[in-house]
Amino acid sequence: MGRPDDVRVLHPRRRVAGVLRVPGDKSISHRALIFAAMARGRCVIRGAATGADVRSTRAVLERLGVAIAGADDALVVEGNGLAGLDRDPRAAPAELDCGNSGTTARLLLGLLAGRRGRFRLVGDASLSRRPMRRVTAPLARLGARIGAGETLPLEVEGGRLRAGDIEAGVASAQVKSALVLAALQADGRSTIRVPGRTRDHTERMLAALGAPVRVEPDGDGERLVVDGALDALASFEIDVPGDPSSAAFLAALACLLPDSRLEIEGVSLNPTRLGFVGLLERMGARIGRVPADEAGPEPRGTLVVESAALAGIDVGPADVAAAIDEIPLLAVVASRAAGRTVIRGAAELRVKESDRIRATCALLEAFGVPVEEFDDGLAVTGGAPLRGASVDAAGDHRIAMCAAVLAALADRPSRLTGARWVSVSWPSFFDELERLAPRR
Ligand code: S3P
Repeated sequence: MGRPDDVRVLHPRRRVAGVLRVPGDKSISHRALIFAAMARGRCVIRGAATGADVRSTRAVLERLGVAIAGADDALVVEGNGLAGLDRDPRAAPAELDCGNSGTTARLLLGLLAGRRGRFRLVGDASLSRRPMRRVTAPLARLGARIGAGETLPLEVEGGRLRAGDIEAGVASAQVKSALVLAALQADGRSTIRVPGRTRDHTERMLAALGAPVRVEPDGDGERLVVDGALDALASFEIDVPGDPSSAAFLAALACLLPDSRLEIEGVSLNPTRLGFVGLLERMGARIGRVPADEAGPEPRGTLVVESAALAGIDVGPADVAAAIDEIPLLAVVASRAAGRTVIRGAAELRVKESDRIRATCALLEAFGVPVEEFDDGLAVTGGAPLRGASVDAAGDHRIAMCAAVLAALADRPSRLTGARWVSVSWPSFFDELERLAPRR
């Protein structure tokens, strides 16, 4: 999948030691940009994610006429309220390129369903394979007019939305957030039932801005109550904490390589994002959390990770929802844990940037790890020596970084095709690996 020249040699590593700061959280950065575009007045976003995904959200909002100044990680957004996003409905649809970013596409579907005008959302080859009906079907119940296809490109004919009681068919923060953005524009009170607990940045950030969004527990899931007719959000400033989903890769390596000690500063400690840390702890990891003084709705602090002997665990659907982006990495960690790790209830991974169950199994097999693939997960037997391999990133940033973790633990250098995909979420990943983890 990578270009022919996009092959990188990955070296075995001795340990991980030092202090790390990871790029700003991707989920929070997308939301900060979108909420700033919905605000009236000047918003300042510091420490935003520097990867391609968040640049896609920025570019889409700029295409919609939102003025955004500044470099990647220090952005100033001039919001003109929701009406500022409206277009002449007779004009040709605005072409909005969401790149590789599912969050951009899904949140924008919810936002634009309620705006005047026509919009056409497109994406790259990977995003154009990912399911969108999970968003467009419940949006249709609020009166949204969006093309009937399952995948991008999709055309939105925005307009008035009616309040209603709707359900997200999957436990997905992207779906939940899209529905909230639409419900905020509807003509009354809506309720949104979500069948599981997922990252809660949308609810936290909107509540901190005084938006009428309330969350109630509902069995294993939750119910959101949202009042409509929003004109604009209040303007705001935000310091985006570091992304725990990026931090996870070097944290995992610090657990697995002997004599390691890694301090990851300024990272999000939002409990809905620390599912992976909890799973590592269940395996026997030694991870300290040092909260920083609270500033704003999103908690942050330092994670301190030290080497430890790990053992396999059983992972079920609730664990998966709380660590959705880290499940491939958990399978990688399991290859070095004593015994078997079984991961079930993870079918969602098949519709991420790649089919992550297939891609993870292929990666592990290439390194000589015994693995069994299920429709909804995989089982990994730990302890076999890892042999250097030639692998492909499958067009997926997280699979590329998983390959680097496996290669760091292997007996000889490996080769990765498609290494450039890391720039979707962490452009300097390989530099940080080189800085913190001496070669063996
Ligand atoms: C995200 C939610 C998750 C996650 C994605 C970012 C978000 O997707 O995989 O990387 O920012 O809301 P789902 O909500 O579809 O599981």
